[in-house]
This record gives sequence, structure tokens and C-alpha cells, in this order.
Amino acid sequence: MSRLTIISHSPEETEQFGCQLARLLSPGSFLALRGGLGGGKTCFTRGLVAGAAPDSAHLVASPTFAIMNSYPGPTPVYHFDFYRLGGDDDIAELGFEEFFDADGICVVEWSERLRELLPTDRLTLEFDYREGDQRAITISASGPGSARVLDQLSKQRSKQDFL
Ligand SMILES: Nc1ncnc2c1ncn2[C@@H]1O[C@H](COP(=O)(O)OP(=O)(O)OP(=O)(O)O)[C@@H](O)[C@H]1O
Ligand SMILES: [Mg+2]
Repeated sequence: MSRLTIISHSPEETEQFGCQLARLLSPGSFLALRGGLGGGKTCFTRGLVAGAAPDSAHLVASPTFAIMNSYPGPTPVYHFDFYRLGGDDDIAELGFEEFFDADGICVVEWSERLRELLPTDRLTLEFDYREGDQRAITISASGPGSARVLDQLSKQRSKQDFL
């Protein structure tokens, strides 16, 4: 299983999915989020933090101006948003890489701006608009750690579909 698409019907469902995925992650996990404005990346991240660092979940907002917010908890979450950084900005000089293989989960909005700084072992989540409040979230894995997570996730989801 190298790719899985989930349809979310509401912001709550997207948060629940974030929370479900959080339980499969561990320190050093890297989530590269892609997709246009309002696709649900921050909404998903709120659910992710609810699963990994529950006491901080209410704090999750778009870190557009801060570039990075950290949420302490049992598994800390480092939440990046590179929307404001254009192609000319040298993200490498900002020194964020030190967080990428550290004690927490990294979740990155507008991750395509990282280009060659993207870790090789990562999950990529693409958020696409569907009708109304529906969003298609396509998860793909590159690297052995993320492939294991995607495998577990797809097993859980196929069981869920039977309920
Ligand atoms: N199924 C859904 N999943 C997620 N959000 C949804 C859904 N349906 C409607 N929405 C709405 O879409 C918006 C998603 O906003 P959010 O800030 O999460 O997007 P984003 O991808 O982070 O955008 P940006 O690129 O501007 O940071 C919210 O207003 C949310 O209520
Ligand atoms: Mg956002």
C-alpha cells in the first residue's frame, strides 16, 4: 500500500482523522501537507495535536506569521507554515532542520517550499476540494518508517469501513 485516499465530509471528520493518524506516529515522524488555501491542513493539524499533545490542541491556529509553532505534550508537535516564504527565501538559513529528526512530530503546511530540505522518509498528505464540505485527503509514503505507518492506517481504515 503506497497510497490511500480518505474522504472527509466535515471539519470534525478531518480533525478525527488527524487524531487517528497521531496515534500511529512517533518522534521523528514527518508529515508534508500540500493543497490550496482552506483545504483543511490547519484543521487536520488541530486533530493531530489533539492525539499527540492533547493539552495544547486548543492552541492550534494558522502559524502563518510565526512560521513555526510548537505544541508540548507526550509527543511534542512542531507545526510549520511556509506559505509566506517565497521561492527566494532561503529556508535552510532559518535553521528549522534541527526539528526534523528530533523529539517530536513535524507537520508542515506548504511543504513544497522545502524542496530539497524535505526529509526522505515522510508521509505526504494532499488536500483536495470536493463538493460542499467534502475533502479528499490522499496519503502517500516515501521511506520505510512512513510506509509502515501508512500500512497500519490503511488496515485501520478498511476495518472502519465495515462498521
Ligand atoms: N471536510 C473538511 N475538512 C476540513 N475543513 C473543512 C471541511 N469542510 C469545510 N472546511 C472548512 O474549510 C476551512 C479549512 O481551513 P484550514 O485553515 O484548515 O485550511 P488550510 O489548508 O490550513 O488553509 P491555508 O493554506 O490557508 O493555511 C475551515 O474554514 C473549515 O471549517
Ligand atoms: Mg493553514
